[in-house]
Amino acid sequence: MQVFIEKDYSAMSEKAAQIFANEIKQKPDLVLGLATGSTPIGTYKELIRMHKEEGLDFSKVVSFNLDEYYGLAPDNPQSYNYFMFENLFNHINIKKENVHIPNGLVSDVETYCKQYDEEIEKYGGIDVQLLGIGVNGHIGFNEPAEELILGTHLTDLTEDTIKANSRFFDSPEQVPTKAITLGIGSIMKAKKILLLASGKNKAEVMAKILNRDVVTTKIPASLLKLHPDTTIIMDEEAASLSSNK
Ligand code: PGA
Repeated sequence: MQVFIEKDYSAMSEKAAQIFANEIKQKPDLVLGLATGSTPIGTYKELIRMHKEEGLDFSKVVSFNLDEYYGLAPDNPQSYNYFMFENLFNHINIKKENVHIPNGLVSDVETYCKQYDEEIEKYGGIDVQLLGIGVNGHIGFNEPAEELILGTHLTDLTEDTIKANSRFFDSPEQVPTKAITLGIGSIMKAKKILLLASGKNKAEVMAKILNRDVVTTKIPASLLKLHPDTTIIMDEEAASLSSNK
């Protein structure tokens, strides 16, 4: 596992975008695993800049998003579908048919989730998976638990996550309580994983992951230590409690 500590959010974002850009240049039909939340916004901004100013080409790139709230329509401004188009896809030359985001309105979720994993496999798997991390250590919506589900699935959000995500809604009651998420197995199948962590509120969970030589399903992101190609990029605030970097 490689760990980089950058000065601040913007340096972290530039570093992550640079890694993505290098991968896309080496493999123009790269399969990207993408994430939502506040953390990747700076990375997406930098990728948009690289596209506009340096001609970074997304025309062959394929993307699969990590998760989506269950019950929200794709055009709902709170949906992750909406987020992705607003913050990235509308500003680069990725083909719409190459974009995959779980549909929060499907009724036969089980079949749908199985097909989502199969679709990823059809493209040869995810080449680079971008991840944020929840304050409770979740990745995607794989929440801390005794057991973690391997494949893409419908899951209940924990109170911590509902509380953390309520900042994007008018009130906590409006936050959906379920989501479709790539499972921990689907994430671990990615060839390369890039986890970003920024800000003081992530320092504690990053220290729990990095200060001890253990993994636990109670901190799902700790399992990334078992992956052969995980890179963590943190800013100084997120790294502030980590000793064993
Ligand atoms: P954040 O969320 O980027 O908004 O902090 C990360 C996450 O919950 O995975």
